[in-house]
Amino acid sequence: MSKTIQMARVLTGIQSTGVPHLGNILGAIIPAIKKSQIKGNESFLFIADLHSLTQIKNSDELKKNTLNTAAAWLSFGLDTKHTVFYKQSDIPEVTELAWYLSCFYPYQRLTLSHSFKDKSQNLKDINSGLFYYPVLMAADILLYDANIVPVGKDQLQHLEITRNIASRFNNHFGDTFITPKPELEQNSSYVIGTDGNKMSKSKNNIINIFQDDNLLKKQVMKIKTESIAIDEPKNPKNCNVFKIYSLVANEKDINILKKRYSSGDVGFGEAKEILLNEIKNKFKIQRDKFNFLISNSELVEKELESGSKKARDFANKVLKRVRLKLGYI
Ligand code: ADP
Ligand code: TRP
Repeated sequence: MSKTIQMARVLTGIQSTGVPHLGNILGAIIPAIKKSQIKGNESFLFIADLHSLTQIKNSDELKKNTLNTAAAWLSFGLDTKHTVFYKQSDIPEVTELAWYLSCFYPYQRLTLSHSFKDKSQNLKDINSGLFYYPVLMAADILLYDANIVPVGKDQLQHLEITRNIASRFNNHFGDTFITPKPELEQNSSYVIGTDGNKMSKSKNNIINIFQDDNLLKKQVMKIKTESIAIDEPKNPKNCNVFKIYSLVANEKDINILKKRYSSGDVGFGEAKEILLNEIKNKFKIQRDKFNFLISNSELVEKELESGSKKARDFANKVLKRVRLKLGYI
């Protein structure tokens, strides 16, 4: 298409429905920050607090989650000098674009959304925002001419919807939107939660690395294991503790623990202690920084405010292009 972008414009968002958990960190935050550090890439990272409203209706909770989410990104080294870091709700243009996009996407196709089906089975409040969610997500992406969107596997269908909406609009009005590509983490498997299923805020199975040591310990100790005697050999591949450990520890330590499993030299209680210590050591700097930011929330708010100004400038340019095509200006 005519609007070629030389560099990659990388954009991703995370919902502020709680404190980001280990799955969000390994599956979304770390990969996105790495991407943003690649020279020549321009990056947009935002807190999807409008999407959060589909699940949270309490203003204090929404605010707190936004702060927690922003502090999590910043504690993992998000550099706001090189990244436009903002809050979705600070950019009202996104809801305007979402409306336009919705008029170009068949209702029937939205009914096929896996994430809607999944959420409507797990949540009590099945509101129409939840159904409309992918359209707002498409607007999040298309509003900034993003061409690369790092996401976890569960978001791939949303990216397909975004690409499809962009094509429909472009076919109708001529080149208007960049068609974005998803970028899956190389290790694209899900981080499992304490129950062995995909770790998710809605499943009460998360590991929140930012909480204090005692609460963190409680969550790690909750990880489901088989009932096998301490001195019996165990298959590490079948063990939830080992699976999570493999995602955070280095190769040498993973191999040491693997051998101990196979030779019946470790019980699950000890394995959990090993995992707990690994999490505490590996994420010490991030945990400290997170706590500092939570106690100094004005620093976080300042970062978001200045990011939102930059994001809004971009958004208005793209939206003007769209309004022109639609004949509204
Ligand atoms: P949750 O399922 O906890 O509500 P979100 O839907 O807010 O998580 O996901 C935020 C980001 O984190 C998405 O990019 C998603 O793909 C990624 N993510 C969520 N859970 C996991 C997981 N268990 N493993 C890897 N990535 C995950
Ligand atoms: N739906 C995404 C999630 O739950 C969050 C999100 C909203 C997003 N808008 C986005 C991710 C745009 C990438 C791009 O994880």
